[in-house]
Amino acid sequence: MAKKTIADVDVQGKAVLMRVDFNVPLDDALHITDDRRITEALPSITSVLDRGGRVILMSHLGRPEGKDPAEDAKYSLKPAATRLQELLPKNPVHFASDTVGDDAKAKVAALKDGEILILENVRFNKGEKKGDAEYAGVLASFGDAYCNDAFGTCHRTEGSMVAVPNAMGGKPKVCGFLVEKEIKFLSEAISNPQRPFVAIVGGKKVADKIQVIKNLLAICDTVLIGGAMAFTFSLAKGGKVGKSYVQPDKVDLANELMALGGDKLVLPLDTHCGDDFKSTCNKLVVKSGEVPEEYEGFDIGPETIKAYSEIIKSSKTVVWNGPMGVFEMPPFDAGTRAVAEAIVDSDSVSIIGGGDSAAAIQEFGLADKVTHVSTGGGASLEMLEGKKFVAVELLDEK
Ligand code: 3PG
Repeated sequence: MAKKTIADVDVQGKAVLMRVDFNVPLDDALHITDDRRITEALPSITSVLDRGGRVILMSHLGRPEGKDPAEDAKYSLKPAATRLQELLPKNPVHFASDTVGDDAKAKVAALKDGEILILENVRFNKGEKKGDAEYAGVLASFGDAYCNDAFGTCHRTEGSMVAVPNAMGGKPKVCGFLVEKEIKFLSEAISNPQRPFVAIVGGKKVADKIQVIKNLLAICDTVLIGGAMAFTFSLAKGGKVGKSYVQPDKVDLANELMALGGDKLVLPLDTHCGDDFKSTCNKLVVKSGEVPEEYEGFDIGPETIKAYSEIIKSSKTVVWNGPMGVFEMPPFDAGTRAVAEAIVDSDSVSIIGGGDSAAAIQEFGLADKVTHVSTGGGASLEMLEGKKFVAVELLDEK
């Protein structure tokens, strides 16, 4: 059943308590290095402001584990408030130095329609992790309606995601446009895909992606494997992996996945290796399972690039999660780059899981040429595993 969205709520003259995921990366000078999670929340925020309402934003940033804001400025949401004010110059953005304390309460009471208040990082409060009833009750009292637009945090069950909406009583509890969009692509589009449906799964550890691979094998026509996890499969097949990263205790699991996948599960044909973790190292391209002892696999090789690109280009739906190699270190970015380019060249509905694959497609300047780039890391992975989220399930049905 579809969930109600913020568009279904009459917000005129009302305060909307909105959970967003402003857990954005910051550099040492506390400048935001990627503001996509903020820009992607704008449609929900402006939808309230433009219809005569006011917005109280809650988010976490990092994992301060209940510490005091004064102890750890790097976890403050102040930089996010500054960025939001730049993005919405016509709407005053206020900042409360606490979440449920005197400053927050005073600023909530003074907030006018058309204005935004950002509360300090919810994780500075011990009650957030535990979903403490008193803490949740104060937050719930701030809003006439609750909106969850924090897709990146939807796999969590902490206070602002679950206890707060549950404490709203009969007031509306809806999802924002970002959560609606992410679910549309990461769940609905892949459960009813146009075919051929190709998944590309990469990254370091096969153990982290077991459920994703299993779920995708059940719904895709082909699952292409890349990244360091391919070496655990190679080991399982009796191949030589040299110094490549492997998980020897996951060899049985790799065998299980290969048996389950049959022809659907496609492994690299060759490997681009190096003898040191540097761009300037000595390099070699070898067939899969033939990595020399003193070498380490850093990327898929040219034969694999060609084969994978052809499969991707003829797909009608493609989901990508995890890089093919060390994409931060040229020339070992070639495999990941080629996959990104093949996705762009294909005529497919293209869905990029969050985390490293989202970072890679942005670095290659191709993010606006695909259908959807998720803002979730763990959340997008869990959605590809086919999981349902409590934080979404509890929201009002249409
Ligand atoms: C993320 O970046 O994946 C989300 O913001 C969730 O953060 P967390 O893993 O600290 O809960």
